[in-house]
Amino acid sequence: MDTSRDRIIIFDTTLRDGEQSPGATLNVEEKLEIARSLARLGVDVIEAGFAYASPGDFEAVQKVARTVGTEDGPIICSLARAIEADIKSAAEALKPAAKARIHTFISTSDIHLKYQLKKSRSEVLAIAQEMVAYAKSFMEDVEFSPMDAVRTDSEYLYQVLEAAIAAGATTINIPDTVGYTTPSEFGALIKGIKENVPNIDRAIISVHGHNDLGLAVANFLEAVKNGARQLECTINGIGERAGNAALEELVMALHVRRQYFNPFLGRPAESTESLTNIDTQHIYKTSRLVSNLTGVIVQPNKAIVGSNAFAHESGIHQDGVLKNKLTYEIMDAQSIGLTDNQIILGKHSGRNAFRTRLRELGFELSEADLNKAFVRFKDVADKKKEISDWDIEAIVNDEIRQPPELFRLELVQVSCGDNSRPTATVSVRTPEGQELTDAAIGTGPVDAVYKAINRVVNVPNELIEFSVQSVTAGIDAIGEVTIRLRHNDKVYSGRAANTDIIVASARAYIKALNRLYAALQEENKQTVATS
Ligand code: KIV
Ligand code: ZN
Repeated sequence: MDTSRDRIIIFDTTLRDGEQSPGATLNVEEKLEIARSLARLGVDVIEAGFAYASPGDFEAVQKVARTVGTEDGPIICSLARAIEADIKSAAEALKPAAKARIHTFISTSDIHLKYQLKKSRSEVLAIAQEMVAYAKSFMEDVEFSPMDAVRTDSEYLYQVLEAAIAAGATTINIPDTVGYTTPSEFGALIKGIKENVPNIDRAIISVHGHNDLGLAVANFLEAVKNGARQLECTINGIGERAGNAALEELVMALHVRRQYFNPFLGRPAESTESLTNIDTQHIYKTSRLVSNLTGVIVQPNKAIVGSNAFAHESGIHQDGVLKNKLTYEIMDAQSIGLTDNQIILGKHSGRNAFRTRLRELGFELSEADLNKAFVRFKDVADKKKEISDWDIEAIVNDEIRQPPELFRLELVQVSCGDNSRPTATVSVRTPEGQELTDAAIGTGPVDAVYKAINRVVNVPNELIEFSVQSVTAGIDAIGEVTIRLRHNDKVYSGRAANTDIIVASARAYIKALNRLYAALQEENKQTVATS
């Protein structure tokens, strides 16, 4: 790989670090759908998972490698601890990719060495060198990360990096694992690496960082100014704890402020050429897809992709924008692929119009899925006069993108009001095909529905999050319900949309329960296999 690049490499880790967000677990098909969207977005590298972690992870990496890892597509990468078995598994899963990368890591900070690895600095140095060389025996493209680099003694960090590059690492990644650093410190760290690692010119410097102090994007931009050329990020900034640096924020900062950043990459300030390979028009669509499939909601005031990011509430701002957009806007909503969402379909629209609009919105559905979505569209159009793009997206997500349907909601009925006790009746079909009905009283209608479902389904869980969002404005709007359940320290999410929010709540709950139930079945299978 060329190490003197004047362009920023975007390494997307939504499918690996992003999937480590509580409750964001994705199945293989969902990972593939996200990987295809990332490829359309133009990311350079997709970290598709951690092949050794589980058979499901292995399969996901392999399928992404096979379907998205084409000659003209992105590099497909798998994470691997600096352990032979991990590296071998990553190499095996990546075989179908035209361009593959193994990303191996080991902790280097004293605190990790002492309490987690229980190894000395010299032992870790030797392992890093040996395992990079081992990864190199499988492929040319090897990335090495000294985990918790930010809290690692800098002289020792330089030694480890020099050894990793000597062993064949083509990218060295500097993780702020605990989200501790600040922009000027991180910039100085990258500068120090450039100045003190003798063979640094043979590798690309990459950065990876968590957002515990809300500084990840700012830290990365400072790293770019000091020589980092690869940014590891996720869509919507999802990831472990407070998440990772958000891809859309980094890309748009480099795009909107390219005249400021150009000189740091050796370009003339006035160059209008893009600093990344990203097709920004796909940002919004990819953000929605990731939010829909992971169940991780995007906060309304989130930069770039939040629902308020381009909304102007104050009269002064509205007046300015109407006169000239540039008065209060630094970028055009259309540059991230936001359309005006004009109302375009209604109850008289036919299948062809529906299919055409779906394609325009980026949904490629099979004939069977199109039929399912069309039936639902007609049903919604009967209740709601005007169907917007947002409604269409909610219909497709609700009807097509479903976790395995183990339990199926057949009926939900509630009675509530200020002088009655909220009571719900539900009928649920079990995975064995039995239809069970039960009723419960709750503190409100949703609580009553959930209690009734619990009586039927009988899978212990704790409800930790419930939220309702309106997809569009108006009394007939579709309501989108997102919920999260916890069971044995793991979080499972479910999302559903309906013009009746009680129905949406019940369906979202069943979806989360289906994810939980599928995970329990998988655990049981593995216990049987190993006993
Ligand atoms: O945060 C971290 O340190 C990581 C490494 C595996 C790169 O995710
Ligand atoms: Zn991380």
